[in-house]
Amino acid sequence: MKSDTKYERARSRDIPTAARMIALAFAGTLDGVTKWLTDNGIENIRVVREGRQIPACLRRISMGQFFGGRSVPLVGIAGVATAPELRGKGHARRMMESCVREMREEGAALGGLYASTQALYRQSGFEQAGHRFITRIPLVRLLGGDKSRQVIVLDESDHNRVKACYTRFASSFNGLLDRTDYVWKRIREMRDSRFQGFGVTDSAGDLSGYLYLAQKRDDTTGRQELHLSDLAFTSESAGRQLIAFLADFEPMGDFVQFGGGPMHPLLTLLPQQRYEVKLKDFWMLRIVDVVRAFEARGYSAASRGSVVLSVRDRLVPENEGRWRIEFERGRAKVHRNKGARGAAIECDIRGLAPLYSGLYSPRQAAILGLCSGEPEALDILGGALGGGTPWMTDHY
Ligand SMILES: CC(C)(COP(=O)(O)OP(=O)(O)OC[C@H]1O[C@@H](n2cnc3c(N)ncnc32)[C@H](O)[C@@H]1OP(=O)(O)O)[C@@H](O)C(=O)NCCC(=O)NCCS
Repeated sequence: MKSDTKYERARSRDIPTAARMIALAFAGTLDGVTKWLTDNGIENIRVVREGRQIPACLRRISMGQFFGGRSVPLVGIAGVATAPELRGKGHARRMMESCVREMREEGAALGGLYASTQALYRQSGFEQAGHRFITRIPLVRLLGGDKSRQVIVLDESDHNRVKACYTRFASSFNGLLDRTDYVWKRIREMRDSRFQGFGVTDSAGDLSGYLYLAQKRDDTTGRQELHLSDLAFTSESAGRQLIAFLADFEPMGDFVQFGGGPMHPLLTLLPQQRYEVKLKDFWMLRIVDVVRAFEARGYSAASRGSVVLSVRDRLVPENEGRWRIEFERGRAKVHRNKGARGAAIECDIRGLAPLYSGLYSPRQAAILGLCSGEPEALDILGGALGGGTPWMTDHY
């Protein structure tokens, strides 16, 4: 960065400039973007200040991400934008480098984002680590539901039990967010859509599944589509109740759509594969702190043994060097490796992201040049990290 260039927290007077940049970047309205910037805490907005000019900005979202059943601290990055008249001069690249350094200094384990251009984020150590698909099911195909209809309407007072139900569901898969308020607000309201919550209960009256839906009406036919901002359940019978609940919209509706993995668990409960699953986006991760990231996540309880991981990280030298990772009873301990003992894996910090998330096994990642190592070490790490393809319901 030039000597008069700073990466810092936005001040209130920077908001109009940031709003203009973000509105132009994402084709939003100035009013809508200003609300987005101010409603969610301007302390989370960062700007690049160059003298009197603000060429670029971003938003940070503190949350967690489930891996191996445990929540790992994650800083999500959104709203990355450079003013159109100042693009192509390296502002976004340098801003992302400062952002990664800041996350490290604060003690974050992971950084995450959805990328419009992966090339930009790869330069600061992010790599594809999971995906988000949109599933679209004809309502007439929602068969196999449980019609016992113990359906309740959810309101604000149900938030804690909705959260508990989501956490049970989300922590059973790799990659789902451990949501904080920013994401929860978007479940209920997103741009001009408001989503209504409905839950299903088990025989004890506890919430065992829920969904949030918005109806999109086609004014020419009068028929509707259901868009879900969230869908979670903790038992087969709850999943089947949600199927029956959605199927009840069929007389006036054609489709339901929702975000998730390539194989949302609800699909397994359907008798036929008559739906469309389309890739929406890959999400990327940056391992900000190797020790914290590996010690925070969970692993297969059956995994035992250790590997030596040799990491290169141009931006965060604290991550560099040889680490010994010891797996025991579903947890890992990470130490500096002294000496040359042990089967070793080598990787750049970027290559570590899809290994960590389980998007690729270490053997698969080696084919892509994301890491290299002795087969024994690759298998030990792969055995510990495996656990299904990483996905996410939310876009942030
Ligand atoms: C994407 C964006 C932030 C880049 O800002 P910028 O300051 O012009 O980017 P930089 O000059 O720092 O470029 C850094 C790298 O990003 C990538 N990049 C930048 N602009 C790109 C473009 N239009 N298409 C593809 N890659 C691009 C390149 O890899 C570039 O590195 P290189 O110059 O060595 O090839 C800017 O174009 C923008 O605001 N776009 C609209 C909003 C958006 O897409 N935001 C990102 C959402 S995740």
